[in-house]
Amino acid sequence: MDYLEFFNIKDDPFRITPDSEYFYPSQEHNEILSSLTYAVKQKEGFVLATGEPGTGKTTILKVFLNEWKDKAEIALVMTPRLSPEEFLLAVLEDFNIPVSSNNKNDIIKVFRDFLLRHSKEGRRVIIIVDEVQNLPDETLEELRLLSNLETDKEKLLQIILIGQPEFRKRLESHSLRQLNQRITVRASLRSLNVSETQDYMNFRLMKAGHGPVFFELKAKKLIHSYSKGTPRLINLLSSRAMMAAYVDNSRNIKDKHIVYAANNVFDESFRNRDKVKTYLKYAAMFLVVLLVVVQVSFSMRSKKDTAEKPEQTNKPVLTETVQPASKPNSTKKSSTSKPAPQIVSHNVRSQTDAPKQVKKIVDSPAIESVQASSPTLTIAKEVVNLRSGPQMETPPVSWALKGKTFPILDIKSDTDGHEWFKIKIDAGKELWVSRSVVKVNQQAIEEGR
Ligand SMILES: Nc1ncnc2c1ncn2[C@@H]1O[C@H](COP(=O)(O)OP(=O)(O)OP(=O)(O)O)[C@@H](O)[C@H]1O
Ligand SMILES: [Mg+2]
Repeated sequence: MDYLEFFNIKDDPFRITPDSEYFYPSQEHNEILSSLTYAVKQKEGFVLATGEPGTGKTTILKVFLNEWKDKAEIALVMTPRLSPEEFLLAVLEDFNIPVSSNNKNDIIKVFRDFLLRHSKEGRRVIIIVDEVQNLPDETLEELRLLSNLETDKEKLLQIILIGQPEFRKRLESHSLRQLNQRITVRASLRSLNVSETQDYMNFRLMKAGHGPVFFELKAKKLIHSYSKGTPRLINLLSSRAMMAAYVDNSRNIKDKHIVYAANNVFDESFRNRDKVKTYLKYAAMFLVVLLVVVQVSFSMRSKKDTAEKPEQTNKPVLTETVQPASKPNSTKKSSTSKPAPQIVSHNVRSQTDAPKQVKKIVDSPAIESVQASSPTLTIAKEVVNLRSGPQMETPPVSWALKGKTFPILDIKSDTDGHEWFKIKIDAGKELWVSRSVVKVNQQAIEEGR
């Protein structure tokens, strides 16, 4: 059983040749057709219709030709990469005007007689140029000169230009401004929307003697999304998808058949473009999620900060320093030439927010006063290590500068008999400092004991 038999159709519904029999009169296509008809009936000079490749310009022309072929003299130039002379000869040949001279003036005179004769008979003479974007500037100028052939009352010649949208841009150039001014009717063809695409497909299937060929709705939508409503691409995809379904022994055309067709129809770059789009979509989604997460964590952090603020006034934070400090052996970041900065702490506080911190603490008398009645010690060396435990082997986790006073929470001796003080520092953290590097308020200790 062959393909057509399998689907019970008499013809391939999605051939890509512009066939007026299969003309689907979408609103857009009809409007263009009406513009052409109007311009010819009104004897307008130039008409221009543009549209992206495959949108149906040539198909419309075919329909227009069918309508006018018996009512007008028509020359159709489909391959317009012609010099002015070649173009003129091609037009005369199409009109069946015999040319016996090579002299251009003679040729124009013959052509003018032809126009006048038909004008008297009330017949329109129309030149149609398809793919006008390929016409060289000089040939366009020749065309403009031909359009000057007119009587006092009317234009003798109607010219229809069909081409791609970039031709409009070209017309704006200085050299083509005269032609541009003569174009009185302009129309542009857009692609089909999703419901027109479905109608278009149904229409063509019906014309082909639609048997039980069934494109699922999802499949039709996918065709629109791949083709962006361009009829030539719709045809290509539909035809390949039907072939895939035929091989699959399925009379239902499903989205998997469309995906297969798309892989078959489009080249690597097109598919990659689709992939890139997908990646970009996911990247955008990821960014949105990331932004939300960042925002949420920021707001949680700022809430936490606000909650912690009252406590901060008590912090005997190591960043507090009003006197220059020489570089400690263990200090990685400080410089000897600068006053002791915020980096006196190992804490994970960035340099940028540290100055604020320093100022706040220095200005705050509460640090000392709150602990005034507790036993205290004062740092006696330029910079001393504060450790997590009461022995030299425990790693230093912070530093304190000379002159800083801390409340003492506890006293312990290590195995070597050295005394260690537990002190309270930043954010309520408790660390240990060796007695050998501090001055102790003995009285307080005694009272405390
Ligand atoms: N209105 C329509 N009805 C039926 N088929 C259409 C219609 N428009 C386009 N097609 C189909 O789409 C395909 C491409 O159409 P056509 O050749 O007319 O496009 P075009 O705009 O002239 O393209 P190009 O710029 O490449 O010349 C053809 O197979 C044609 O049959
Ligand atoms: Mg075409």
